[in-house]
Amino acid sequence: MLLSQDAYSKIDAELTKYPADQKQSALIAALAIAQDEKGWVSPEVIQDIAQYLGQPPIGVQEVATFYNMFDVKPVGKFKITVCTNLPCALTYGDATAAYVQKKLGISFRETTPDGMFTLIEGECMGACGDSPVLLVNNKHMCIRMSTDRIDGMLAELKEAATQEQAADATAAASHASTVEGPKNSAHSSKGA
Ligand code: FES
Repeated sequence: MLLSQDAYSKIDAELTKYPADQKQSALIAALAIAQDEKGWVSPEVIQDIAQYLGQPPIGVQEVATFYNMFDVKPVGKFKITVCTNLPCALTYGDATAAYVQKKLGISFRETTPDGMFTLIEGECMGACGDSPVLLVNNKHMCIRMSTDRIDGMLAELKEAATQEQAADATAAASHASTVEGPKNSAHSSKGA
């Protein structure tokens, strides 16, 4: 089993929405759940989802490669999609795309060397009246993104990543001390 039990439970919950012989109806939801957990839809994820839903792997791959919300190659921690369709392009969308590229030092379809940001050129997100529009990790839409707001957004994302790393380090240290704790106390009591 490639995914966590929690992920499979979520997929099971999606499956309850459809008849038992229509498991393919939960395919997009299952891929989204898997991508949330693994960061991207790898060939192993495609195989696993295909097996879990009883579908041919080629069918799962076709869906994963058709929708651009699915990443079939590794991406950075934060995937930033910039809408460059015509309505946005007419309202500073192109300038916004150029600004984000310059800030991150990467072009579209590239990832920063630290693995933090991937930049994608996106299609209309249905918020044309609020251009320029960005989407973070396929879920968080950011509208009317002036250069100041882009600066603030990037700073917030970096800060969130730093805090997450610090929390992970604290949890790892706490786990290590829990594992080593009994040894130390045994050693101390022997010494005493
Ligand atoms: S064209 Fe950018 S949101 Fe519609």
